Order: sequence, then structure tokens, then C-alpha cells
Amino acid sequence: MKQLSVEHLLGIKYLNKNDIDLIFETANHFKEVINRPIKKVPSLRDITIANLFFENSTRTKLSFELAEKRLSSDIINFSASQSSVKKGETLIDTVNNILAMKVDIVVMRHPNVGAGVFLSKHVDAKIINAGDGRREHPTQALLDALTIINRKGKIEGLKIAICGDILHSRVARSNIYLMNMLGAEVNVIAPKTLMPKSIERMGVKSFTDMKKGLDGCDIVMMLRLQNERMTSSFLSSNREYYEYYGLTPDKLAYAKDDALIMHPGPMNRGVEIDTKLADDINVSLVKEQVELGVAVRMACLKRYCK
Ligand code: NCD
Repeated sequence: MKQLSVEHLLGIKYLNKNDIDLIFETANHFKEVINRPIKKVPSLRDITIANLFFENSTRTKLSFELAEKRLSSDIINFSASQSSVKKGETLIDTVNNILAMKVDIVVMRHPNVGAGVFLSKHVDAKIINAGDGRREHPTQALLDALTIINRKGKIEGLKIAICGDILHSRVARSNIYLMNMLGAEVNVIAPKTLMPKSIERMGVKSFTDMKKGLDGCDIVMMLRLQNERMTSSFLSSNREYYEYYGLTPDKLAYAKDDALIMHPGPMNRGVEIDTKLADDINVSLVKEQVELGVAVRMACLKRYCK
């Protein structure tokens, strides 16, 4: 069976174009499978997966769990708030104890940058990064890219705007790597305080003005303000932020006429996006992103199996 070129799925940064094509091809197959009356396949019947979430999550955790169930794997779930981590156990000890139960794959979300990379060097299992601090969230970018391809037919040549809290966003980083690899032009838009220094080195154009940044864009990807990662005061108020950076129909008009909106969730209505716009099925791809997330995660898991 065809497999990914990497041993662990730690970030888009480590994948090549063949890996991406393989994931998309497999995900498109699973998209069809999960719309059948019988949604389950036996692909991972003898595989055990541990979902280790050291940081809050709704969508990503449920999406991985459902993907694992649809592939018939055995699952154990761990959430840091209810665990011995609170009693002072180290990450390696926690994971090694879980692996002693014969786990094949670890899906991990962690607040620390590089937690997955660190773990992959110390434990004997395949690691899938479900978000590490502000660094990467590879499966989110993969599902975003596939959502765009399904609607626009391609990514190459498109102009994609990523707007909001770029500084603290792993979704932004993974998407910048992936959209660039697939041949899109990427604009990032944020207030100065939420724009990483030297972001242009990642191959993007940066803007502090929505009008200029959205000009001619095919896709407008909105991000949440990551208040939990803010160490000081980055904004004067949510109201002012909404006025300058909240996506409203007026601001969307700066983009192309057929521009589509995306958001990884959770969404803060009235902060980064107008509530009606968020629900407008003519322009918002939010539900499609969630739906494709399960197929993309099934594809990632399958392409890792021993
Ligand atoms: C994102 C995350 O956790 O990085 N959400 C998600 O995975 N669906 C974005 C966010 O939390 O704002």
C-alpha cells in the first residue's frame, strides 16, 4: 500500500507534494464512503489509537475520534484536565504508560510548540500532530485545502487571504506552508501587534489594511483571536477590532465577486466575523470544512498504518 514519505505527521513543513496528493486522493475516497448508508470500513481493525489532548478541543477531537471509528480502530481517549499530568507526571512518562498498553498511533494536541517533534524522538509510536501551540495544525490545513479544491477545482493560481490573529495561529502557519506548496498566492492581514515579524520570509504578502489585503482574493480565511495565548494586551477592544478587522459584507466586497469565506472554528461572532455572513451558505464554507475534516483525518490515519 502507498504510504506517506514521513514517519510522523508533525507538520505540513515536513510533507512533499506526493504526500499531499496521496492524502487528497484517499480523502476523496473516504468522503464517498462516509456518505454511504454503511459508513464503516475495516481498514484499521487491528490498530489501537490514543487521542491525547493536553489542550481544549471540540471539533478536532471529535473529528479524529469519528475518523478512527469509521476505520474500525480501537481508541483510548485522554484529556489532560482529568489526568495524572495534574499530579506532576512528565509528558514522556504519561505517553509511555499509555504505550505500554500497546498503542500504535498517538494523536496529540499540546499547548507547547514542538511537543509532537519532541515526543516522536522519545516514544515508539507514530505521532500525528493535532495542533502544537502556535506552530502547526497540519490536518486543519489539509482539510482547508481540500475544501477549496472541491469548490474552486484547484488551488494553483488562487489568491488566498488569511486574516486575524496570525501571530498566535498554528492554522495560519500550516495553511501558509500548504497553500504556497500548492501554488496559491497568500496575503496575511492583521493589526501590527498580531502580525509576526518577518512573516514575508514564509512567502506571503502582509497587510494591516483589510481593503488592500482582500483586493482580488478568491478565498477569505478568518481566524479567531487566540486570547489564551496572549501574554499581554494586544488590542484595545473587541469592538475596535471588529470595526477594522471583523469580516462584514462591506469588507468582503473588497475581495472577488465569487470569493468564499472559511473559518477553522470556534468562531467568535461579532468579533472576527459578522454573524449573518458566517451562516450564509452562498459564501461560507464552514460546514463543508467540518464535514471534510473526518475524511481527511481518515486518509491521514490510513496512510500511516503498519
Ligand atoms: C483551531 C485550533 O485549535 O488551532 N481550531 C480547530 O482546530 N478547529 C483554531 C482556533 O482554536 O482558533
